[in-house]
Amino acid sequence: MFIRLASNQDEKTIIALANQVYYTSEKDFWKDGYYRIDKQEFDLHLSKNQLFVVELKNEIVGCVLMKQVNKITASFSMLICHPNHRKKGIGKTLVNHVFFEAEKKNYKKMQLEILSPLEWVHQEKEFLKTWYKSIGFKLIKEVNFLDYYPTHDKYMKCPLIFSLYEKDLAT
Ligand SMILES: CC(C)(COP(=O)(O)OP(=O)(O)OC[C@H]1O[C@@H](n2cnc3c(N)ncnc32)[C@H](O)[C@@H]1OP(=O)(O)O)[C@@H](O)C(=O)NCCC(=O)NCCS
Repeated sequence: MFIRLASNQDEKTIIALANQVYYTSEKDFWKDGYYRIDKQEFDLHLSKNQLFVVELKNEIVGCVLMKQVNKITASFSMLICHPNHRKKGIGKTLVNHVFFEAEKKNYKKMQLEILSPLEWVHQEKEFLKTWYKSIGFKLIKEVNFLDYYPTHDKYMKCPLIFSLYEKDLAT
């Protein structure tokens, strides 16, 4: 397994992978036309060195985004493992890589957000909450999706909530 910064050549693969994975996982959240990432957003992450990809035998099998939140806090998102390569430790390796990169840059905290339905249980999101808690993340607040994106109700199939988690990084 080999992790590196994404490059221009990865654009089509990453956009297709992210949109397919999120479309599948969040198909009951969004009306038609939903997408997780487009070319403009991909280019922005590339220009800021925020996007990492993981290769296995020269094939891209996952990715993760790492951004700055404030001086001492970073966040990760769009953590993805290709469905054909799940439960082999790729997700865990990407998360550890993000911790390593954040510590190198002197961040003290790491955050992440999970988007879940407000009124029903989504098994995959529940697994994520359990997993993140097991690696040290604590729930710090929950925010209605529409408080962040007030104009997005036209895209939503059901009420959604963001759960914000945070973890202290090693010093
Ligand atoms: C989340 C995701 C990246 C995990 O990738 P992965 O490579 O399969 O994860 P790993 O093999 O590293 O497993 C990590 C841990 O989760 C557990 N796990 C993985 N998938 C699981 C599942 N579906 N149900 C229960 N446990 C699971 C593993 O056993 C492992 O536990 P351990 O640390 O106690 O050994 C992958 O499921 C994915 O791409 N999901 C869709 C996108 C998404 O929701 N991303 C998160 C956004 S916040």
